[in-house]
Parts: sequence; C-alpha cells; structure tokens
Amino acid sequence: MAKSILISNVLPQESRAIIPANVEVDYHDSELPLSRAELIRRLQGRAGLVCHIISTVDEELLQAVPGLKVVANVAVGFNNIDVAAARRHGVVVTNTPDVLTETTADFAWTLLMAAGRRVVEADAYVRSGQWTSWRWGVLWGTDIHGKTLGVVGFGRIGRAMARRARGFGMRVLYHDAVRADAAVERELQATAADLPTLLRESDYVTLHTLLTPDTKHLINERTLRLMKKTAVLVNAARGPVVDEAALVRALTEGWIAGAGLDVFEDEPTIHPGLLPLANVTLAPHIGSASLDTRIAMAALAIRNCLAVLDGQPPLTPVS
Ligand code: DGY
Repeated sequence: MAKSILISNVLPQESRAIIPANVEVDYHDSELPLSRAELIRRLQGRAGLVCHIISTVDEELLQAVPGLKVVANVAVGFNNIDVAAARRHGVVVTNTPDVLTETTADFAWTLLMAAGRRVVEADAYVRSGQWTSWRWGVLWGTDIHGKTLGVVGFGRIGRAMARRARGFGMRVLYHDAVRADAAVERELQATAADLPTLLRESDYVTLHTLLTPDTKHLINERTLRLMKKTAVLVNAARGPVVDEAALVRALTEGWIAGAGLDVFEDEPTIHPGLLPLANVTLAPHIGSASLDTRIAMAALAIRNCLAVLDGQPPLTPVS
C-alpha cells in the first residue's frame, strides 16, 4: 500500500511541513470532528491516522479499516482510543508525552492560583463597576505558599506540578499506583500518601491521572467529603475522573472552597450546576494550548505516524 494518511483535524502548517512529498495526505482542515461514517470512509486505503481526542477509534472502526497500521493521537491522553482493540488488530497507537508536560503543568498551576486567589471573580468585580472604593474585606482567598499540595497521579505532569510547588515553599503529598523512586521523592520533596490521607491533608488537590476504569469518578461524594472545607480541587486531566454532580454539590454546599477545571465529564457540555458558581474557574480543555507546544505535539504525532509507515519503531508508543 502506498504511504497514505488521514489527518482528521486541523494541525499547524509548520508541523505538516515535515511530511515528505511521497506520502499522500488527506487533510481535514477543520476543528470539527468527522462523523463516524465519514472518518471510516476517508480512512479506506490509508495506513495512518493522525487524530485529535475528538476522534473515537474503537473496534467497529478498526474492523472497517483493515489496512490501518497506526493511530497517532495528538495528545498525551488516549481514552478516545480502544488500545486493546488496536492491539488485536495489529494497529500501533502513539501519543504525545513529554512535549506538553511543562505547558500543561503551567496551566494547571494557573487554575490552582486563579481558583485559590479568586482571579476570575476579581476580574468580574472590576469590570462590573462594583469596585467603588478600596475595601478590606473584598475577595479574600487562600494562600498558596506554605500550604500542602496533593498530587493525584505522579507521572510527568504530576511531577512537574510538584516541582512548581517547591518554588512556593509547599509541602507535597502524592498518590499513585506506583511509588516513585526515592531519588525522585527526594528531588521533589514529595511524600507518598494513600488517597484518603492526601485528601484530608491537602489545601490544593490536583489531578493528573489517566482516565481508566479505575480512575473514573475517583473524586466522588465520598472522597470530596474527605477534603478540607478550605481546599481547592484542580482537574486538568480528564473530566470523568471527577463525578461532576458530586462536585457541584461540594462547591454549592461548602464541602470544599473552590475548583479550577479544564476538563469535564461530557465535553463540551458543562454540568449546568457549575455555570452559576463563582467559586469555580472554568476553561475549555486548553491545558496544552500554547503555540510552541501545539506545534511540537502535532510534529511528534506526525513523526510517530511516519515512523510506523516506514517500518520503524514509533517514537512514543502507548505501552
Ligand atoms: C492531552 O494531551 O491529553 C490533552 O488533554 C489534549 O491536548
């Protein structure tokens, strides 16, 4: 089969420019997902798919596209792809770790600070003309320096959060299925904790786990009730890690103080209970959305796809 790929959504020109002329490219230059039928139709006769998280790759699609050799996701998360099914069909799946670690941690940190120091409420207060005189009691927030950060999921991005916390003189607890090396714990001054302990002791809880059946609704009514009433929850991982209905109750009834959310259970639909709440900062899943990082993610996904088409090992396979 000639080298032929589908890029199922918009990608920067700088990144697409690395595709050699002998590779035939069907480029869907759009932010909107192709319908399932259209995705299958446009994949016929193609060996590679470069896609965003809005494309679902499952058993049905894999059966319908027998020539497919590689699915290169332009994201570090890959819950849009049935990896086990891909393995059964001999299709390589790749993602884009590393290139987005610092950018995503920057943004999770932004949410943490915005929620803790009530930046969005402050902006609204000024714009709406409520600031008529300086007032002692206006918009008190929660300190960040010297507080305890709980990192749930201690992979690359979780560790990058721990690194940032050092600059703020924070105590860092982490929870992960796999304990980090002693050298990493020392370097990041991070202490392993079970989830209940982490939730009870942290002032900020930041989520960085993959979405798996085990992590779905990891944060739910029971676990939210373990958190401090003054605590802030940050989610820049995947929406379904949090039971959004329980979070709405937690924020409304004061079980916790606030939240910063970049991801949602049913994106782009937001739980209606979240929208009126002043104590939640909302963002449209833009954790890795910086110019440099988006270009690097797209380039890495394309390189992964081309490597497999060339019979080479991919740079960053999903293991
Ligand atoms: C990721 O990389 O998984 C982001 O959520 C999408 O860019």
